[in-house]
Formats: sequence, structure tokens, C-alpha cells
Amino acid sequence: MNRSDFPLLKTGVIYLDNGATTLKPQCVIDKITEYYQEYSANAHRGDYDLSFKVDEAYEGAREIVRKFINARYKEEIIFTSGTTDSLNMIVFGFFKRFLESGDEVLITKSEHASNVIPWFMLERELGAKVKYIELDDNHYVTMENVSKAITPNTKVISLAGITNVIGDERPIKEITEYAHERNIFVVVDGAQSVPHRDTDVQDLDIDFLALSGHKMCGPTGVGVLYGKKELLESMVPVRYGGGMNESFDSANEVYLKELPARLEAGTPNIAGVIGLGEAIKYLEAIGMDKIKEYECDLRRYAIDKLISIPHIDIINLEADGGIISFNVDDIFSQDVAYYLNKYHVCVRAGNHCAKILKGEVGVTSTIRMSLYFYNTKEEIDYVIDLLKDKERILKEMI
Ligand code: ALA
Repeated sequence: MNRSDFPLLKTGVIYLDNGATTLKPQCVIDKITEYYQEYSANAHRGDYDLSFKVDEAYEGAREIVRKFINARYKEEIIFTSGTTDSLNMIVFGFFKRFLESGDEVLITKSEHASNVIPWFMLERELGAKVKYIELDDNHYVTMENVSKAITPNTKVISLAGITNVIGDERPIKEITEYAHERNIFVVVDGAQSVPHRDTDVQDLDIDFLALSGHKMCGPTGVGVLYGKKELLESMVPVRYGGGMNESFDSANEVYLKELPARLEAGTPNIAGVIGLGEAIKYLEAIGMDKIKEYECDLRRYAIDKLISIPHIDIINLEADGGIISFNVDDIFSQDVAYYLNKYHVCVRAGNHCAKILKGEVGVTSTIRMSLYFYNTKEEIDYVIDLLKDKERILKEMI
């Protein structure tokens, strides 16, 4: 779908690394360029027309994001540099003050580093305990395993909406319902889910959500932290500086601004924020349900073909998104990626930052094809053709 909107696709590249980052449509590129060419003043600081225009575009993007994830208030949308930044703010700006020694944080072994290491650091600092919800045979989170993992000490469950190696979609709504009955917070790492699914934070009743612009046709270096207003009100900034303070004096009296400015210290990524707003408008025009349906259909198509190749071992036969992780028997994943690269195919190989997943799947690295709505069955056929002859891979990989 919509291939002609993406300049990079005109080069003939077969881009199947959308879990890492997505391509940018011309309208997003133009929107960013427009800012730099026509009104590149700072935000929230100037008393002149150019600056007013920036404020309008910047705050307009906040409203676009609010509507997109159906947050109740604009103040619940904080612009960050991406999912990693948002998750670090959630952990160190909120939970560091809230958790105590002995409290338990539940994650899984298929989480991305950004949803593991900040919690590990909190474990070291506070003595809070990171524990794992067991995954089922398909590496999925089940409600049964969620309930088994919860103890009276569980204070927070932090999960990816969709994981970046397995591509399983978590039952977030059931989890929040179950967790909230037990006064447990739910944090969702939306990096791999928000670009591919309609996400309604009120319906899902998520406490905190993190997302990245660049995985959803937007620019790099911009993301969002969503939090319920009453929770963000008690979050402390992890960064202090200009733009977020009301006043301060030489006697160390510091008064901070209200949300959202309080959590957005310094000059923000203005072009990024405006570009993200445009990317969301672009995705909405296609329709998130249509994107989901298209990707699921494309994945089924690819799996049906891959499964018939004897030397291919698919790690995630079951998955809900467009992620396919596999290995070619006896060949190191990165060698396969280099081989595919010779034919202009972009895939990611390795552990994909999910470094504790290896114990679950039994392999330390995989080749990952991650699909988006602009990929096609013809591209899949092309890759299958390159993969079906193992001798050819062995011969050409170096
Ligand atoms: N988190 C990104 C990925 O899965 C970079 O590739």
C-alpha cells in the first residue's frame, strides 16, 4: 500500500527492518523541511509571529497525538526523544519515588532492553525486585501466567504491547483490569504496537505508555510519554532547565511549571514533534485497522512460503504483528543478513536488544523480517527466492 509516498522505495531497496525504524513518507519529510525553511524559531519562548507559528504547530502536534491514542487531556502527552527516554522517565521520575525495597516489578524475558535495564537499575538502587511472568510455549503472555506471577508485593507490570522479536500482542486490557483490581500499575512499551494497532489508552486503561515516532513513519529522536494526569502530576522531572520552570532565585527557590511543560526541559525536538504529528495524520488517513489487516495477511503469506523451506527454522510461527524471526540451519544470522544485503534486502540479525530472550527461544540470534504496510507479496517472493537455496547462501555469504 502507498508505496509511491516513500522516496526510499524508489531506489529499489527491499526494506524489511521496520521493527528497527520505518521509512518516511514525502509528506513527513516536507513538513520537517517546511519548519526549517519557513519558521524555524524556538517554541514557547518568543513574542513574535514566527515563534507563535511554532507554538501553534508544536501544540497542534500534541493534540494530534492526544486524539490518536485517545488520551483524556493534552497535558497527558509529554514529548520525549523516544520510547527509551519515556520508559526511563517513567521508572526514574515516578517509580523510583513510589517503590520501596521488597516491592516487585513484573516484566517478561521477551522485553526489549529499554523495558528491562531501567528496572534492573531500580532493583539495584531500591532493592525492589524484578520478576518475570512466565511465557507459554509460543512465548505468549497468558492471563493465567500473569495471575500466577502476581504476589501481594507486586506494584507494577511493565510489558511491551507487541514484542520486537516474537511479535506477540499482549492482552493489555485484561491485564490492566486484573492489575487495577489489585492496585498494581501497568506500563506499556508501545514502540512495536502503537505503529501497528489502534491504541486507545482510556479503553485499555493504561497507566503509562511509551512510544517512538520513528517506528511509525515519523522522524527519529522524538517520542511520547503518556501518563494518566494524576500520575504525571506526581512524576518528578529527570531533567531540569529552561522552559520547565516558572521561576527560581539565588536562594534555590525553584517553582516548576504545570504539565506538560514541567516534563519537557530545554528546547524540544520541534521539527521532530511537528513531523510526528504529520506522520500520525498520514497513518490515520490510511486507517490503523487497515494497516493491521494488511500486515497480518502479508505475514501469513510469508510464513506459508517460509515453512516449506526445510533449512529454515521459524522462531515465532505464532505472532500477531508483522514480525518474523527465523534462522537458516547452521548459518550465523548475520551472515544471512549480509547475503541478503547483496540483493538490497534489509533485515536485522542478532538478538534485537532482547538479550534475556535467548533462554526462552533456545537461540542467541535470529534473522528478523519486520513488515509494514508498504511491503508487498512480491518483495516476500523475492526474499524467499534468495533463501530457498542453502548452498547458494553458503557460497555467496562472504
Ligand atoms: N528496538 C528496535 C528493534 O527492535 C531498534 O530493532
